[in-house]
Amino acid sequence: MLMIANWKMNMSRKEIVAYLDTLAGEDRWGVWNEREIRLVLCPPFPYLDLLRKECVRRDLPFGIMAQNMAAFDTGPFTGEVSAGMLRDVAAEGVLLGHSERRQYFGETDADVTRKIERALAFGLVPVVCFGETQEERDRGDASVVWSRQIAPVWEAVGRDRAEGRATPVFWAYEPVWAIGTGRAAGLADVREVSRHLRKTFGKECARGLLYGGSVNAESVTSLFEKETVRGFLVGGAFLDARTVLCIFDRLFGRES
Ligand code: PGA
Repeated sequence: MLMIANWKMNMSRKEIVAYLDTLAGEDRWGVWNEREIRLVLCPPFPYLDLLRKECVRRDLPFGIMAQNMAAFDTGPFTGEVSAGMLRDVAAEGVLLGHSERRQYFGETDADVTRKIERALAFGLVPVVCFGETQEERDRGDASVVWSRQIAPVWEAVGRDRAEGRATPVFWAYEPVWAIGTGRAAGLADVREVSRHLRKTFGKECARGLLYGGSVNAESVTSLFEKETVRGFLVGGAFLDARTVLCIFDRLFGRES
């Protein structure tokens, strides 16, 4: 299980230290990790290295991923951060194609495809976000949108596999109408996405399915079905370390 915290453009150095101090008060991380239940934190770029060092200092076995990256490896791209740079600060993966990137920064499926090519070339684990808007859902076009967003990216994964690499790839179903709205999708919706991925792209693709969008301590229990999802991408709720602990306790229990 992969429990990913997407902090978006939140948190300060001081808040990150306090967050880790709260999590460090829990002694089950080693046990959870052995059971392959992992917490992955996605801070803004400037805090990647700080977060890594602070986790190491407290012996916290968390994964660290970036929220975005450039489609190019190096050169005159002011303000961009490359896959190689992310590797350099020990990020293990990267979120790609989040709907906020698509909506506010004009990211296209072609951009996401170029980015995943670079991410895979550098061995970064990509978490590709996809999902329909309310309007697309109302029109009955949801599955068309899923396929359109995933198809070119899945092809890029195929090209990477053909080169002999086998970096895992995750797909976060994040319906735009569920992000930050308090209205999470239901298990039936997520099962439908899983079926669609299996049917259209095959079992391996469906095996990497995550869910994101208004996941909190209440909604998470009803969405937790191991055969369907490999984990969750959590925004607002995981800005609070106590909610992280509450959700881990609720889902994964105290037993070893
Ligand atoms: P949310 O955000 O959990 O606050 O809805 C999820 C996301 O955008 O990744």
